[in-house]
Amino acid sequence: MKTNPTVWDRNLALELVRVTEAAAIAASRWIGRGKKNEADGAAVEAMRKAFDTVAISGTVVIGEGEMDEAPMLFIGEKVGCGGPAMDIAVDPLEGTEIAAKGAPNALAVVALAEHGNFLHAPDVYMDKIAVGPGLPEGIVSLAAPVAENLRNLAQAKRCEIADLMVCILERERHQEIIARCREAGARITLIGEGDVAGVIAASQPETGIDMYLGSGGAPEGVLAAAALRCTGGQMQGRLLFEDQAQIDRARTMGITDPSRIYSMTDMAKGDVMFAATGITSGQMLRGVQRFGHGARTHSIVMRSKSGTVRFIEAHHNFRTKTWGNE
Ligand code: FBP
Repeated sequence: MKTNPTVWDRNLALELVRVTEAAAIAASRWIGRGKKNEADGAAVEAMRKAFDTVAISGTVVIGEGEMDEAPMLFIGEKVGCGGPAMDIAVDPLEGTEIAAKGAPNALAVVALAEHGNFLHAPDVYMDKIAVGPGLPEGIVSLAAPVAENLRNLAQAKRCEIADLMVCILERERHQEIIARCREAGARITLIGEGDVAGVIAASQPETGIDMYLGSGGAPEGVLAAAALRCTGGQMQGRLLFEDQAQIDRARTMGITDPSRIYSMTDMAKGDVMFAATGITSGQMLRGVQRFGHGARTHSIVMRSKSGTVRFIEAHHNFRTKTWGNE
């Protein structure tokens, strides 16, 4: 029997949500218990196991680290039960501190693309800027001063800078950009952790966030770019290296120009699929609700090819024999 490629990748997108659901449910046991490593370990193990039933020949390109530092979902690890060659970007627990504190916005995240389509981002910081869909191409840029980006964005949105809301991770290193935003008159939402959710929020008008700004993990930058490829919007990223050793290591991963500004499509090319399940509740997704013999999860699944964004609420029954294989 011939496989219809459209049906196949539609189904695959829905398979992905099982993977993030499994990670989220496993991590949810640890919410607020102050043990971020345990929460992360549980999410990683559950996600790794869930991949065994996904019909791909997958290679992890954004994962838990190098083979010698991560037991599972390490960069280069092969996952899936066989099928087309795909590259995979994962963050089984995005926001380990959030989960440990029981604070909002912890997610289990997966993105998938054909082989060679994700930027192999090293584990360094990345400067990020993102805005939502429907704006002129290049309306904001990492090469422009903060005030200029805000001016251009306000003009394109036909509002005042004072109407704009900028989302920034609350970090000492962001004092300068926070000051620049305030000087320009913009409003700011400071978040404690979780810039994948922060970037996605900038692409969703109902969140009230107009722009995401600041540095966070480069691997998270690639995941966020994959999400924005599906929701629409614009994003740029620039890797931030602390020393020559980091630059040399990045070179072995194919990064030839350390100061390059990457567009969203440089980070996630071609047809991209993205799935995330809420672990703790946030603006986009509700967290896992556990009850006697089951749990309820809330996920988002999207494909860049169709631009469809689906929210999936699932009720999981731990009593059934198939639990753990669904
Ligand atoms: P973890 O899940 O690895 O803890 O990452 C959480 C996070 O907030 C990311 O969303 C963000 O990209 C990064 O940490 C920021 O790093 P830092 O906490 O060092 O500023």
